[in-house]
Amino acid sequence: MSKEERNLPSHIAIIMDGNGRWAKQRGLKRTEGHKRGAEVFREICQYCTDIGIRYVTFYAFSTENWKRSKMEVSAIMNLLRKYLDEMFQRAEENEEAGYCIRFIGSREGMPKDIVKMMDTVESRTSDKSTTYINVAVNYGGRAEITQAVRDIAQGVKDGSISIEDIDEDMISRGLYTAGQPDPDLIIRPSGEYRLSNYLLWQSAYSEIYIDDVLWPDYTPADLDRAIEEYSKRNRRFGGV
Ligand code: FPP
Repeated sequence: MSKEERNLPSHIAIIMDGNGRWAKQRGLKRTEGHKRGAEVFREICQYCTDIGIRYVTFYAFSTENWKRSKMEVSAIMNLLRKYLDEMFQRAEENEEAGYCIRFIGSREGMPKDIVKMMDTVESRTSDKSTTYINVAVNYGGRAEITQAVRDIAQGVKDGSISIEDIDEDMISRGLYTAGQPDPDLIIRPSGEYRLSNYLLWQSAYSEIYIDDVLWPDYTPADLDRAIEEYSKRNRRFGGV
C-alpha cells in the first residue's frame, strides 16, 4: 500500500512514558527503565524513517523533570550524552539516512557540554530532510508559548511589529517547531490521559492515541497499531 493509501501521519509526537513503572515491575532501578527507554527511542526513530514518517518528536525531558532525584536526572543526562556521542561517531551513517535532528526546549540550565553537543549535531544535520527528528529536552509547552509572546512583545516595543500584525502564524513562527507541520498524531504509552505540557500550541488539532504498553516495551508493531487507528479517524478540524 502506498503512503497516501495508508493515510500516514506526516508528524508523530511521542511521550516516552512508563520507564519508571517498567523498572519497578522488574525490581530494577528507575534508571534501568530510562536506559531501555533510550534504546526503544532509537528503534522507533529508525522505524519511522523506514516507513516514511517525515517528522517525529520525542519527549525526553520536561521542564518539570528537574524535580526528580539528582541521580535520576543525571542518569537521563548521561543517556542524552551517549546518544549525542553516537551521533558524532556515526555522522556518516546519519548523513546517509538524512536525519535532521533538532533539540527543542530551553538550553538554559542544561549542562554546558550537552548544549555544545546539541548545537553541533543540529548544525551538522540542518541541511538534511529525509526525517526530521525533534528531541524535546528541558521542554515545556507553556514556557515555549511564553517565550514566543515575550519575543513578540519585544518587537512591539521596539517598533518592528505592529499589534495588528500579531496572528496565529506569528506565534507558530516563534515556537521551537517553527516551519514544521503540527503533529497529526500524539502517542502516549503507559495509559495516562494527559498531555503533560507537551506541544500545547501545536496539538490544537492533533489526534491523541493512548496505549497501555509501557515505553520500554514499545515496539514498531505498537506504532503500526496507532497509525492504523489514526488512519481510520475522520479529522474535521472544526468543520463538519
Ligand atoms: C517518563 O517515564 C520518561 C522520562 C521522564 C525520561 C525519558 C527519557 C528517556 C527515554 C531517555 C532519553 C534519552 C534519549 C537518548 C532521548 P517515567 O519515568 O515518568 O515513568 P513512570 O511514569 O512509570 O514513573
